[in-house]
Amino acid sequence: MTSATSSGAEAEAGELSTSTVKVTFEDGIAWVVLNRPEKRNAMNPAMNRDMNVILDALEIDDRCKVLVLTGAGDAFTAGMDLREFFRETAGFDPIKRRRTMAQATNWQWRKLRYFAKPTIAMVNGWTFGGGFLPLVACDLAIAADDATFGVSEINWGIIPAGNVTKAIEAVLNERQALRYIMTGDPFDGKKAAEIGLVTEAVPRDQLRVTVVALAQKLMKKNPITLWNAKVAFKHIGEMDWELSEEYLTAKAIANTAMDPERGSERGLKQFLDDKSYKPGLGEYQREE
Ligand code: COA
Repeated sequence: MTSATSSGAEAEAGELSTSTVKVTFEDGIAWVVLNRPEKRNAMNPAMNRDMNVILDALEIDDRCKVLVLTGAGDAFTAGMDLREFFRETAGFDPIKRRRTMAQATNWQWRKLRYFAKPTIAMVNGWTFGGGFLPLVACDLAIAADDATFGVSEINWGIIPAGNVTKAIEAVLNERQALRYIMTGDPFDGKKAAEIGLVTEAVPRDQLRVTVVALAQKLMKKNPITLWNAKVAFKHIGEMDWELSEEYLTAKAIANTAMDPERGSERGLKQFLDDKSYKPGLGEYQREE
């Protein structure tokens, strides 16, 4: 199978890797690998604590232009760790339990969904339950055709909480969302692409190369504008049309003001004066 860490050109970020997550850098991509393959990368409290620290660090690390989230071995993630996250915290007092839950959701959607750089989920295998949260929080998702997905909570008598239902509602239509929430039926990568859960499904041997090509494409775009564009999209769903127009107008002004490379000026000059590119067909030249 395609390994997330198969390239010899990668530099391991020893200072960021932990016992539960492996971080490597390669040509602008930060590969963040959930790394408990023997437990199908189930997200335990240690991994959740580690991911909060890692995302905070990567957001301001110049080696990370695009973040790719994937899993070691044959799983993306089998969801929340049923033993360490559910059973072993059952006796905690409510505040301590709430803290454990917050450590999970803080990275799984708050930090990941609004991460200041593009994020791609590379879905290499099993993806269940709580795994849908980081999956949907990533801006884009490329899956192996034969990866297996499932909203499995119903199969052991709980509802998809921890904001999993919210994530599913954000990307699936009601018929598909309720079908999988209520049946728990597993489905493959092709089906995930068909219903819009992932951006695209590709043969397993094309998975890594497809993700790298997508990351490289994103790296040619203006990074500040990418950030503002994705965050704006993720917020406007909660707004009415009036508020959305006001917000997008303000966000556009903020984008221009905070952009160190003055992208819009460059783009207009290259199109209108230099006639060196066509915005409808590709991006402006960032370095001149
Ligand atoms: N939480 C805790 N441990 C998990 C886990 C999870 N979500 N998913 C897998 N594991 C553990 C298993 O308990 C097993 O541990 P052990 O070796 O100590 O017995 C190990 O990972 C391997 O799992 P196993 O079931 O033997 O692997 P498999 O390849 O045959 O099956 C799955 C893989 C993902 C289909 C299966 O493990 C599974 O159904 N996991 C639960 C998925 C789920 O419903 N997650 C929702 C959580 S919200």
